[in-house]
Amino acid sequence: MNEAYQRAWQRSIQDREGFWSDAAQAIDWCAPPQRAWDDARGWFADGTLNTAFNCIDRHVASGRGQALALIHDSPVTESCRQYTYAQLLDEVGRVAAMLVRLGVCKGDRVIIYMPMIPETVFAMLACARLGAVHSVVFGGFAPLELAKRIDDATPRVLLAASCGIEGSRIIPYKPMVDEALRLASHGVEHVVVCQRNQLGAELSAPRDHDWAALRRACAGDAVPPCAQLAATDPLYILYTSGTTGTPKGIVRENGGHAVALAWSMANIYGIGPGDPFWAASDVGWVVGHSYIVYAPLLVGATTVLFEGKPVGTPDPGTFWRVMTRHGVKSFFTAPTAIRAIRKEDPEATLLHEIGTGDCRVIFLAGERADPDTIAWLEKHSGLPVIDHWWQTELGWPAIASCFALGDLRRRPGSAGFPVPGYEFAVLDESGHALPAGESGAVVIKAPLAPGAFRTLWNNPAGYDKNFAGFSGYYETGDAGHFDADGFLNIMGRTDDIINVAGHRLSTGQMEQIVAQQDGVAECAVIGADDAIKGMIPVAFVVVRAGAETDAALQARVIAAVRGELGAVAALKTAFVVGALPKTRSGKILRNLLRTIVNGQDWVVPPTIEDPAVPAAIAAVVNGN
Ligand code: COA
Ligand code: AMP
Repeated sequence: MNEAYQRAWQRSIQDREGFWSDAAQAIDWCAPPQRAWDDARGWFADGTLNTAFNCIDRHVASGRGQALALIHDSPVTESCRQYTYAQLLDEVGRVAAMLVRLGVCKGDRVIIYMPMIPETVFAMLACARLGAVHSVVFGGFAPLELAKRIDDATPRVLLAASCGIEGSRIIPYKPMVDEALRLASHGVEHVVVCQRNQLGAELSAPRDHDWAALRRACAGDAVPPCAQLAATDPLYILYTSGTTGTPKGIVRENGGHAVALAWSMANIYGIGPGDPFWAASDVGWVVGHSYIVYAPLLVGATTVLFEGKPVGTPDPGTFWRVMTRHGVKSFFTAPTAIRAIRKEDPEATLLHEIGTGDCRVIFLAGERADPDTIAWLEKHSGLPVIDHWWQTELGWPAIASCFALGDLRRRPGSAGFPVPGYEFAVLDESGHALPAGESGAVVIKAPLAPGAFRTLWNNPAGYDKNFAGFSGYYETGDAGHFDADGFLNIMGRTDDIINVAGHRLSTGQMEQIVAQQDGVAECAVIGADDAIKGMIPVAFVVVRAGAETDAALQARVIAAVRGELGAVAALKTAFVVGALPKTRSGKILRNLLRTIVNGQDWVVPPTIEDPAVPAAIAAVVNGN
């Protein structure tokens, strides 16, 4: 039992109003909220604020303009750029002026399709300053996915870079933007391209602008003031995989987000003004939004923006080098990154050589952290390694050990305890709470804590569905159980979402793509275990009679998923099989496919339509 945590959690549930009103004091409001929660209007609904002001201006105004705000450490370009809060204010002001020149107003959407460079952070904060709603799209998504987001968000402006750098490869972004705009029905008025030295982009369309030239042209413009926004006004839309082919646009509101993130930095991560903090994620994901950009800046810390990979840029020592170089105090990464490092440096020679500097704790999230990986990291780093759990929908951790409250309890295989603000339950199919040790649906009692989503962009009915399964509860889509000591163990998803190298993807969406390919009669895509990425998608395809060889069809299916969804989908294996295993009612037995492909012992389920099918599939998988 940890008393500080227990007190905080109890109060957050029993005195929600008092707990979150106190937490809201960490934010500078234009009009302070008179109350925390309102059933009809949400969190801090009568408060007004500006998130970018809280991230930058107020620190400069309080005399911390010379403190370091942002460090861009880029082993892939062998460069390191640093910005103080005063410099960040200047840069963000410049981009805000550029956006105003292009006609961007409060409430307009701006899509940001950019890699891990400082300009991406400036762009996000410039939107926040104006009250424009940004939507960052991860660079690993293909043009069609970008087009879907363009059509849903209907942005006035799209901000891009000429290229991204993936390890030693340069990925041209502008052709993908052009293709996405060709595919989209919505017309974007302006595309602004930040040209990188590694590869320039051709700016040929009348809508294209060069970032540097536009910045120069706006040099004399007044810096636009911070817009005064309602706490419930949207700060950003972040699309994530749902169970259909259409991505879900998670809407993040300004007020609850600022309060929750500031609370988490002080009480979970133990980070305050001047502390270097590093979340080794990508700004295209929720971790990047919350813990590379907004949370560290909200509390006046120094954030590290790392443009590289855990391995190969240049070696598996890169994390420890960046950590020690910048005096990182708390570090956040995904288990998959640690597994990748361990594979290349099993004895952690580089970790022992370089050390971890001032780092006091390592946090892991994004997928289940296997106990073996945690044990390896704790042993070699000598630091506590805290697994914690959250989702794009929530925006910040909901299960964790609150390190900064002195809670260091951890149990391999568990993500920790409910974070203050979140009341969890584990329910059976009829909605009854299950006892410790029994697995069921992991749900959270409504209302969700500040910062969590309160709608989906253009799809309020889709939002309501998250609460439809169990009355009064938000369904996380995860399955798990409490243990006898109250640790919450997350075991996997109850739907078709899989986590590939910490990236959330829908196998249902991949199935839709595969099924549309010529010659495919039917298909199934499942998540197979992978030693590094945690899971990888594997397709099973039944072909219509035709002349094409299996190998040619496999290559076509793999190329289609990569082309339509993006490289990040990482579908590299497709098996051509005679039939899929199905129940007599026609339901594909995906668990059976998973068991076979994972090389585990399988049995023929009694409900199967054709008992010969599993053995035939196993023969294909095992190459017999
Ligand atoms: N732009 C363009 N392409 C991208 C991209 C981007 N931003 N990010 C990834 N890709 C591409 C990769 O180049 C790769 O392409 P390939 O199939 O041609 O090699 C593909 O998408 C898959 O990428 P990834 O999943 O990153 O695999 P990887 O083999 O390159 O690297 C890891 C493996 C484990 C090192 C890497 O996935 C990793 O660091 N994961 C941690 C993820 C993370 O931090 N998630 C946040 C949750 S907290
Ligand atoms: P995302 O929205 O991309 O953050 O993905 C959220 C999903 O990732 C969750 O619903 C879980 O399935 C999984 N996940 C995230 N963190 C953890 C964790 N610490 N342990 C187990 N699963 C996790």
